[in-house]
Amino acid sequence: MPVEDSRIKGLYTKSVDERRRIVAEACSLTPEQVQALAAHGELGEEAADRMIENVIGTMSLPVGVATNFVIDEKAYLIPFCVEESSIVAAASNMAKRCLTHGGFTTNNDQPVMIGQLQLLEITDMEAAEEAIQQEKAALVAFCNDVPSRMIALGGGCKDITTHRLSTPLGDMLVAHFLVDCRDAMGANAVNTMVERVAPRVEALTGGRAHLRILSNLAAHRLARVKAVFTPEEMASNGTREDGLNVIAGILEAQAFAVEDPFRATTHNKGIMNAISSVALACGQDWRAIEAGCHAWPSVKHGRYTSMSEWSQDESGNLVGEMELPMAVGIVGGASKVHPAAQANLAILGVEKAQELAGIMVCAGLAQNLGALRALSTKGIQAGHMKLHAKNMAVSAGAVGEEIETLAARLQAYDGHRSQSLVESWLNEMRNS
Ligand code: MEV
Repeated sequence: MPVEDSRIKGLYTKSVDERRRIVAEACSLTPEQVQALAAHGELGEEAADRMIENVIGTMSLPVGVATNFVIDEKAYLIPFCVEESSIVAAASNMAKRCLTHGGFTTNNDQPVMIGQLQLLEITDMEAAEEAIQQEKAALVAFCNDVPSRMIALGGGCKDITTHRLSTPLGDMLVAHFLVDCRDAMGANAVNTMVERVAPRVEALTGGRAHLRILSNLAAHRLARVKAVFTPEEMASNGTREDGLNVIAGILEAQAFAVEDPFRATTHNKGIMNAISSVALACGQDWRAIEAGCHAWPSVKHGRYTSMSEWSQDESGNLVGEMELPMAVGIVGGASKVHPAAQANLAILGVEKAQELAGIMVCAGLAQNLGALRALSTKGIQAGHMKLHAKNMAVSAGAVGEEIETLAARLQAYDGHRSQSLVESWLNEMRNS
């Protein structure tokens, strides 16, 4: 049984240290486990305690920097926060392979988010839609009539659209408030706006406003990337012939992802390996970004498919393109209060949220290419094994020099590499 009783009265009123002790006792944690929760790096306990509820500690993950990226003629070092080996190396490696044609180019929409208002019990749909359109200017003005830095900087509600839904619970009207969030991700501003305007829309339409919430399908906030990779850049040995073979393999892998949702999910997971890692490093809401990115191919193509597009141009070059919703902010939220997120944004040196959005789709495209190139040539495990071997050695209980020795032996081993094998080698080493 995990715990005897999961109700802990007033846990939220306790200090972080007290909560940790209560949980440690309830879960019979060892002193080392308590220490692991208590140890903290750049995010102090006080700051953590202000971020979420019932805080008992913090947890760190590696931050690695991807190199070689040139985006819209600017060179970037891109911080990734992630636990999986090979991701940073693969992205850096692929970013180097499009430099002949100048690196990545992006084209990013204005930072417009959608606030949704669900309207029920409307007796005359047509009249309700008409009323909203008639009163649009006044509704937009009402939305923007609040003291707000975002609005002062030219953001705020820009438009309102409506659409109808036919559901088993009856017809519904949905109003979309299109809000330019400037350099903020915008969730708070948009949610506040739709909650505030809801009674006005009820009065106009005679309906009942139910949900009032931002949509994570940021369809008006798309970021687009394109990059061209020559056969020589794609080759393992620098020759055009080898590069053309590699490109042919990548196009076959792409065709698989386009047609098969089982493969598309994994293909897209590889893209999100980069996008979510950069999002996390920069204090973004990576769950919102994940949700939007995975939904977008279905909206664009009518079914779940690859987020990326790979093709070959008439010169034999590999051309990669991708368009994804990218709801990111560089003011407010964790990007402002988390010291490491601020440092990572400083590494990127971005001046606008749209710039960050563009960088993230570039990282995603490079990551996708890294996976497709590895999968369609020597397989993914060869690249994974280097760091993974060290992790397996540590998991087996190796310390100090034992780690390198075991990892080297494991990498050179041709047979089936299992955790129990590494454990037996460690025992052997210690007993010899
Ligand atoms: C692993 O994290 C990601 C890959 O599975 C992506 C892919 O298969 O394209 C390698």
